[in-house]
Amino acid sequence: MATKTVSHSRTTPRPRGSTVQQILARSTRRLAAATLHYGHGTDNPRDDAAALVFHVLGLAGELTARDLARRPGKRAELAVEGLVSRRIRERIPVVYLTQRIWFAGLPLYVDERALIPRSPIAELIELQFQPWVVPGRVKRILDVGTGSGCIAIACALAFPRAQVDAVDISPQALEVARINRRAYHLERRLRLVESDYFSALKGPPYDIIVSNPPYVGTAEFKGLPAEYAHEPQGALRAGRDGMDAVRVLLREALRFLAPEGILVVEVGNTETTVRRQFRNWPFIWLEFARGGGGVFLLGAADLRRMAKDL
Ligand SMILES: C[S@@+](CC[C@H](N)C(=O)[O-])C[C@H]1O[C@@H](n2cnc3c(N)ncnc32)[C@H](O)[C@@H]1O
Repeated sequence: MATKTVSHSRTTPRPRGSTVQQILARSTRRLAAATLHYGHGTDNPRDDAAALVFHVLGLAGELTARDLARRPGKRAELAVEGLVSRRIRERIPVVYLTQRIWFAGLPLYVDERALIPRSPIAELIELQFQPWVVPGRVKRILDVGTGSGCIAIACALAFPRAQVDAVDISPQALEVARINRRAYHLERRLRLVESDYFSALKGPPYDIIVSNPPYVGTAEFKGLPAEYAHEPQGALRAGRDGMDAVRVLLREALRFLAPEGILVVEVGNTETTVRRQFRNWPFIWLEFARGGGGVFLLGAADLRRMAKDL
């Protein structure tokens, strides 16, 4: 009996898979068609798609026409598709899928044990907190609620002669901070301490106390998009009015602040409540060239004058 064999002759085109450009376009279309929230390091579907494609293919920087025309193969294509599906189905912020974020110009590792870094304080650190301090005089810095360690690490690199202490109540977040500290070889100058605010601290005062504490109130928390459920709740929630952490910082920071020191605190949308509850306080509300706000600064002298009434 004659058998019919099916074979690929030399002239039969083999399935070659999509180009990088096609994968990018397809991923962007899928993300754009879904209901997603942006605001964890990217702000549109194209950037989310690019982050996932770059991550899977190990790409970096600007892509050339040749990069875009490359066909990375079916396995890579499926890996991208899988991540896009998780982004859509599970509403996972893309940074938790790639576990990589840039903060103050520094690449950092992050996973769901720590908040995704996005504080506008990055810009202030890049400016070495000028004009609010004389950088050469800054010897000690404290970061309260360090999470991934982003602010503390950026401070340590912006002030190469300073000692930086960073506290967090979450041992899980501190594990992420430790990974980043190791990557930047900062074990000697950056101390990571498990502490409920200032409770585990003693020793000389700090020239800068900086904090991006939790500041989301109960009502606001309930209305947050699904992406925020992937972040540690303790990094976001701060009591009914979102002010629990701010009140502790205003009450206790002075004991740890040098006479010429500054306190810098991000409070986000809770700025309105801060302004209302601390009506007479001389907060300096900082402005940022790259956007964002809700960050106040207080000098030690002002804090001393006002905090005595708390
Ligand atoms: C909004 S996240 C900021 C994380 C990081 N600094 C950043 O900017 O990405 C707040 C951090 O404060 C920590 N935290 C919450 N309550 C705290 C407390 N009582 N004492 C110390 N840290 C606390 C959380 O675990 C979380 O890591």
